[in-house]
Amino acid sequence: MDASDWNARYDTSELIWKGEPNQFLPPEVADLTPGTAVDLACGEGRNAVWLAKQGWTVTGVDFSDVGIQKGRTLAADNGVEATWVVADATTWEPPTEGFDLVAVFYLQLAAEERRASMTTAVRALGVGGTLVLVGHDLLNLTEGYGGPQNPAFLLTAEDILDDLTAAEVSLDVELVTEKAGRIERTVQTDDGERTAIDTLVRVRRVA
Ligand SMILES: C[S@@+](CC[C@H](N)C(=O)[O-])C[C@H]1O[C@@H](n2cnc3c(N)ncnc32)[C@H](O)[C@@H]1O
Repeated sequence: MDASDWNARYDTSELIWKGEPNQFLPPEVADLTPGTAVDLACGEGRNAVWLAKQGWTVTGVDFSDVGIQKGRTLAADNGVEATWVVADATTWEPPTEGFDLVAVFYLQLAAEERRASMTTAVRALGVGGTLVLVGHDLLNLTEGYGGPQNPAFLLTAEDILDDLTAAEVSLDVELVTEKAGRIERTVQTDDGERTAIDTLVRVRRVA
């Protein structure tokens, strides 16, 4: 889906993801001291706004200007401020000082673009900073609920670790892997609870 497809999807008065943070975000940042954060592919801003409410100084980046506008509204409705940027995650030039936290949640890209977006994510990471990526795992296609049905837009922890290794080499930085694997997400449906299978990768930049 390109930016115009996402704009069309977001062009509703309701929030598609209801304004609540993804269930994996709060536990993944619970042990971090709030500092600066970027939510790459922030969509309607649910995760960015939640981080701002926890005291983080947040930048939300997405190539959908309709999504970004909804993020601005969600922030105002919650009484918090954030910086909002309309940009492509594969080419965005982050500020050179680097963020303490880079969050990438459910950015669905084919392999080549995904690798470019991971380079952006690592470029955005300051020394000592943490990168948290959550995405739809490839296994979800056959054993999980919902999510994209085209395998080209699904991923594994190994894919992301390979992308991050390429970014380490090209950017001359050093990352330490803290978590890399599958994680189950409970989804409420009209037919009861279902289980979706996600990928979770968490790394820290040490140099
Ligand atoms: C499934 S939504 C997830 C939004 C948000 N991260 C969340 O969890 O609520 C995927 C988002 O990725 C954005 N996106 C897709 N490709 C992108 C790209 N190349 N650059 C920036 N944003 C992109 C879309 O506009 C959309 O907002």
